[in-house]
Amino acid sequence: MRLSSSVTPPGYVIDSQPGGLASNWAFGWHPGRGGQPRKGFGVERIEGGNVSERQFHAFEGEDLGPEAIIGGEGRLVLDKIPEYFQRFERLILPSRPDTVQNFRKHLDGRPVVVEVGSGRGRLLCEVALSRPDAVCLGLETGLGLCGDALKRAEKKGASNLFMAWGDARRTIPMLVDPGSADAAYLLFPDPWWKKKHASRRHGALTGITIANALRSGGILHLKSDVEPYLHEIVAAFLSTGMYDRLTDDEAVIAAMPLTDREVRLTAAGTPVFAAVLLRRA
Ligand SMILES: C[S@@+](CC[C@H](N)C(=O)[O-])C[C@H]1O[C@@H](n2cnc3c(N)ncnc32)[C@H](O)[C@@H]1O
Repeated sequence: MRLSSSVTPPGYVIDSQPGGLASNWAFGWHPGRGGQPRKGFGVERIEGGNVSERQFHAFEGEDLGPEAIIGGEGRLVLDKIPEYFQRFERLILPSRPDTVQNFRKHLDGRPVVVEVGSGRGRLLCEVALSRPDAVCLGLETGLGLCGDALKRAEKKGASNLFMAWGDARRTIPMLVDPGSADAAYLLFPDPWWKKKHASRRHGALTGITIANALRSGGILHLKSDVEPYLHEIVAAFLSTGMYDRLTDDEAVIAAMPLTDREVRLTAAGTPVFAAVLLRRA
């Protein structure tokens, strides 16, 4: 099925099956296209530095529990900006209304691009430079990483990049008006290997939060080097009924700048898996 070009990149094919994964589900390479790995998405493993060798357990029920907000709700309360961070004009602290107002002033009706867990902001900087019409918003639980990303943006001249500190499941609804985001990225999320941390993984709550922010036809880019986690996230997001899966996603994925983690993975020859979802009308 093809969507009209008003909501989808022209010519892309989507899978509108509700819920589950199609049988031709493949990350990183498409068996139907000659079985060749995509450039930059090698399936060969090289010894060393390959965290994806660790076993990912798909916890369920009580072992998983409801999706947890990282650090708890109290984590959003940081009234006093630590001295080092006061220099960052584009840092948003949810408990500081002045920083939220500053963001809204710059927003001024422009489209938003969001990245959940943007780390040091390599990809978001590139996206911000290529989208001067948009405001690019990184959501990050690491305050130091917010600072690193803002420093990088300053150096690169990306004045449309903002960083919001805190769990994206709380900061997105605070900052992004429903349907105002053109695109979203969730790239190399922490797998939270241990059972005691597994409730922090991204599931339906993250999926709904991002879907509410996206406009109809807006694109969600997903990548991970932990294949079963990517499968889990995609299944949880599709189960919300708010997304369709793009099946001929190669061009979209190939056009993405690399994240810091992906640079390291690529250098180590570690395979990367990707998927693209579209916000349903
Ligand atoms: C493995 S790192 C990947 C960073 C970056 N995307 C990259 O590929 O280089 C995952 C990042 O997500 C952040 N993070 C984890 N859960 C988050 C959440 N619920 N909301 C916002 N950030 C989160 C972590 O602090 C960390 O910086």
